Amino acid sequence: MGNDKDDEARDALAERMLEACVGGLDLLHVYVGDQLGLYRALATRGPLTASGLAERTGVDERYAREWLQQQAVAGILTVDDDAEAGRFGLPAGHAEVLVDGDSLAFLAPLGQGLAGVARAMPQVLRAFRSGEGVAFAAYGAELRSFIARINRPMFVNLLAGDWFSGVPGLVERLGAEPAARVADIGCGSGWSSIAIARGFPLARVIGLDLDEASIAEAQKNAAAAGVAERVSFEVRDAADPRLAGNFDLVCAFETIHDMCDPVAALRAMRALRSPTGTVLVADERVADTFTVHVDAGERFQWGWSALHCLPTALTSPPAAGTGTVMRTPTLRSYARDAGFADVEVLPIENDFWRFYRLIG
Ligand SMILES: C[S@@+](CC[C@H](N)C(=O)[O-])C[C@H]1O[C@@H](n2cnc3c(N)ncnc32)[C@H](O)[C@@H]1O
Repeated sequence: MGNDKDDEARDALAERMLEACVGGLDLLHVYVGDQLGLYRALATRGPLTASGLAERTGVDERYAREWLQQQAVAGILTVDDDAEAGRFGLPAGHAEVLVDGDSLAFLAPLGQGLAGVARAMPQVLRAFRSGEGVAFAAYGAELRSFIARINRPMFVNLLAGDWFSGVPGLVERLGAEPAARVADIGCGSGWSSIAIARGFPLARVIGLDLDEASIAEAQKNAAAAGVAERVSFEVRDAADPRLAGNFDLVCAFETIHDMCDPVAALRAMRALRSPTGTVLVADERVADTFTVHVDAGERFQWGWSALHCLPTALTSPPAAGTGTVMRTPTLRSYARDAGFADVEVLPIENDFWRFYRLIG
């Protein structure tokens, strides 16, 4: 039995945990709607009854009704007064968040991300005891696809314009003859490489990633986007000391903090760059020092760190074990150890990422 202050703290935390549980379960229902095409059917053919949704998507009618009613209670779908027999609708604003994969508001993959982390939890629990890592592949297609789909809208909408025009001389070089050469390090499923090729029709891009499944997907994505002639992909460790080249741009989007040996990867990026080339790193926008008073963005990053980014960054010892919350001073120290003279924080606005130009 505690005092009043303890009781208040107990009740506040208990309430918060229950709310968090409801939020997590909401996201897993979003995962169901996303994966089974339920939102898409509602967006294109709705409003629908449970039997209408079942008929159009091939799901069982009883499950369809349960899901629809949960979604109405969660405030994601609208419903007629008669929720048993009624028709459920997806408001246009919600459809953009749940169905429009090109929109900067697209967040349906969040549920998929949770499912990916859940899949690897037995390995994560073992890793907490042993100190070892958990392979990226252990998080399965769910996590791989989550990252690809959640980052893609930023690449589609912002990379070639807003972002690259904030990097001195970059847009001019990528648009000029002779054709610029770009190396996209830790490219995942290839959406940044594809966005560069689309934004700059002369540029030739090579994407490298350690994960075989990501590279296979990247190759398919580039072919479907019609840029496969100018974009190629290779399964390769970014820390491979044999990497060298003459690239006009060497870039790494949200990947340095995931690498076991970020200094070796940055050293390779330096060796890949031409004498006039740009080295660009985008990684999580977090505070410069540890504080408990973080904004929502940093709290989001903390949420993934111990469960995914840190374990994947501990797979080949000795590993830096950076974690998602890679701060600017940490990157600066990695860059200096890799031979760069300095790191410039670029004035590019973005809620999630900070952009760095590595100099010297
Ligand atoms: C968070 S994902 C980002 C993927 C992509 N850049 C994007 O923004 O969507 C991190 C990627 O880093 C890759 N990665 C981690 N360590 C690597 C290494 N040593 N060499 C190459 N890729 C690596 C992972 O396989 C994964 O695809």
